[in-house]
Amino acid sequence: MKATAKAHTNIALIKYWGKRNEELILPTNSSLSITLDGFYTTTSVAFDEDLSEDIFVLNNEVITGEAYRRVSRFLHLIRETAGKQNLYARVNSVNEVPTAAGFASSASGFAALAAAGTRALGLDLTHEDLSRITRQGSGSACRSIYGGFVEWNMGKREDGTDSQAIQIQTENHWDVRVAAVELNSKMKKISSRAGMKRTVETSAFYSGWLDSIPNDLKEMKAGIATKDFEKVGAVAEANCLKMHATTLGATPPFTYWHDSTMRVMQTVQEMRKKGIPAYFTIDAGPNVKVLYLPENEEQVEKILKDIPDVQNVTLSKIGPGVTYL
Ligand code: ADP
Ligand code: DP6
Ligand code: CO
Repeated sequence: MKATAKAHTNIALIKYWGKRNEELILPTNSSLSITLDGFYTTTSVAFDEDLSEDIFVLNNEVITGEAYRRVSRFLHLIRETAGKQNLYARVNSVNEVPTAAGFASSASGFAALAAAGTRALGLDLTHEDLSRITRQGSGSACRSIYGGFVEWNMGKREDGTDSQAIQIQTENHWDVRVAAVELNSKMKKISSRAGMKRTVETSAFYSGWLDSIPNDLKEMKAGIATKDFEKVGAVAEANCLKMHATTLGATPPFTYWHDSTMRVMQTVQEMRKKGIPAYFTIDAGPNVKVLYLPENEEQVEKILKDIPDVQNVTLSKIGPGVTYL
């Protein structure tokens, strides 16, 4: 009744930003991501008949409060699926990624928890079944079950049985790189969950966001299929800006950006003027991810490291899906 799994984070090129059902975590739009080999979570789950409640240890710290409840609620879902409602678990997780800072720790965290938890209870699931369960821990996590290029189909059904991710290309399809530019790894003030909820409920720009998704998705898939880097980069950057624009139209308005975030964005745009193809994307946090090609790695790294306020630049290739240890 024990298993350990490793899952990598992913960065969305077409963002998931909004839920139509908060309980089941059903999104208002489909999204598309690449899995990153540079950031991951390793989680062990041990079910134990002697426990009377779940225990969650993250980075050697016993966790209580909302983060604990999220894990325990998710374990309950797995227990119900396996028909073992009264069996509690000890969860030990290590994030090789900053937690709750916009580096998608919820994606690698819940993908690793889902994989280890279901295996510990003896469930033998397909990747699609596992993705569907994982979705209910954190939406973006359903994409981290797979490596490479991944699409989360929003699905149509209200019970969520058709809302899961699939792999559209493996990690060997195309060597695109991502530089994660760390500006501030403190916990964000507004979680992804709270930020997207406020946006769906109040943003004047939310319908514009939704209207733009079908074409962005179509263009992105075409760009990936033909390995058209300019197209993939331009669509990803524009999609990211549209997502962040919705937060400015919310009540009360908010932004995940810091002043240093804009400095990195401008530097990336200047790189393009100098002939280096590089594009940015940003999740719900101040930190920036820069897409580039292997032949430009040295230049891109140097330029990013020289920007004031940059704490760290981590270079990443496209990574694999979940593995069991
Ligand atoms: P991020 O940008 O890091 O994904 P979110 O606000 O989406 O930020 O999610 C952060 C939350 O995800 C944490 O507060 C915690 O509840 C959960 N989380 C992070 N890492 C793990 C993990 N390894 N196992 C379980 N839950 C995790
Ligand atoms: C901006 O998956 O972290 O990173 O489903 O509430 O856990 P919950 O939110 P989460 O949201 C991710 C938002 C995003 C875009 C993306 O990863 O697609
Ligand atoms: Co998250």
